[in-house]
Amino acid sequence: MTSARRYHITTFGCQMNKADSERMAGILEQMGFEWSESPDEANLILYNTCTIRDNAEQKVYSYLGRQAKRKQSEPDLTLVVAGCVAQQEGEALLRRVPELDLVMGPQHANRLQDLLEQVFAGSQVVATEAVHIMEDITKPRRDSSVTAWVNVIYGCNERCTYCVVPNVRGIEQSRTPEAIRAEMEELGRQGYKEVTLLGQNIDAYGRDLPGVKPNGQHLHTLTDLLYFVHDVPGIERIRFATSHPRYFTERLIRACAELPKVCEHFHIPFQSGDNEVLKAMARGYTQEKYRRIIDTIRRYIPDASISADAIVAFPGETEAQFENTLKLVEEVGFDQLNTAAYSPRPGTPAALWDNQLPEAVKSDRLQRLNHLVAIKAAERSQRYLGRIEQVLVEDANPKDPHQVMGRTRGNRLTYFPGCISELKGKLVEVEITEARAFSLTGKALATVR
Ligand code: SAH
Ligand code: SF4
Ligand code: F3S
Repeated sequence: MTSARRYHITTFGCQMNKADSERMAGILEQMGFEWSESPDEANLILYNTCTIRDNAEQKVYSYLGRQAKRKQSEPDLTLVVAGCVAQQEGEALLRRVPELDLVMGPQHANRLQDLLEQVFAGSQVVATEAVHIMEDITKPRRDSSVTAWVNVIYGCNERCTYCVVPNVRGIEQSRTPEAIRAEMEELGRQGYKEVTLLGQNIDAYGRDLPGVKPNGQHLHTLTDLLYFVHDVPGIERIRFATSHPRYFTERLIRACAELPKVCEHFHIPFQSGDNEVLKAMARGYTQEKYRRIIDTIRRYIPDASISADAIVAFPGETEAQFENTLKLVEEVGFDQLNTAAYSPRPGTPAALWDNQLPEAVKSDRLQRLNHLVAIKAAERSQRYLGRIEQVLVEDANPKDPHQVMGRTRGNRLTYFPGCISELKGKLVEVEITEARAFSLTGKALATVR
């Protein structure tokens, strides 16, 4: 008797990992596997893992431990660890969890079928060597039918002293503008309305592609890419992330101001508001330069929303240096800020320094920063009150089935009364009646399209 083979994927970490998971799910479905919401009912479990901070990595081990135990009574269960922990640990992961069948780094996501065939032929497989990333030929199984991720550049060539990403994601590899546009055209045909272009350092897009302009500049840049894809039929909104202050250009801001589909939202991590700390992080800019970027954005697009990431308690950070971060947050007024306490990561320079700060300092600074962020975000949110915002409806409000939810162009989560079966994927004019720090509530005025 044969029964359907069922797979389950749990994804940790950033948007890159989410996009990789959707492609790996597409490959598994093409191989005849069916999705199982519950890992316990799946014959194949894939953990797509993150190692950006120690707590992200530890979470993976606790999930894995449970399924490894199950495998002892169900030898046919296939256990896969993909993503950044897989890349970082490689063979060591097999020693730690011998029940694993496949350990595969992020560069191998599109090769999943190949690798699984080796597993089904009886091997235990580790795929972590650096490779040229294959163009994906299968169809991703996307979580949303309204918004989609599109990778534009893989990897990162920066060497921020705290960060594992270059170790686990490898060197920058840009996809061609034609491949990106083709994927977006397909999405447009399938009814998708919004695309987020993805890269760890998206400003690096095109540097590794051949060709120079007569003026010596790279032939392909993110700005050129935006012009190249902005008229794809059906796609109404384009976003991109993550921007690096070191490479962010005025030309890019101008393109965003000029191209109607590009949303007025910028995600530009600053990490610290102190120049000495920025230098120790090897970020390649000063806080003055960062502020100039924000000023330039607001000169072209006064209402642009700005989000960022910041790290507190980097090795050696003094109280006064931390206060420079608070000052920057106070003065810039972010719409959203992802904050984290510094976590020493294996294979990164800063982890080896002897000026690490105690846990108590980390949690105190994190708390103080988060408190300020909530206050500033609530202030920023007030500007939406009484305004009419265009919301792209993504889903029902999970807490209230009589409401739908979506995002404004500035990326604020917005709820309003309505029926999801009618409104899913629609752009709706919504009058904002309530503003909280990180979300809004309103009422629908008209459906645009
Ligand atoms: N490429 C992006 C971010 C990549 S990682 C950039 O250059 O900004 C996402 C975020 O995780 C980072 O912005 C940083 O704020 C945080 N992060 C990375 N390494 C970290 C570490 N060792 N400890 C704490 N936070 C870290
Ligand atoms: Fe990490 Fe820096 Fe690359 Fe961002 S730019 S992924 S923080 S090394
Ligand atoms: Fe995590 Fe890897 Fe992304 S370490 S943040 S999943 S690039």
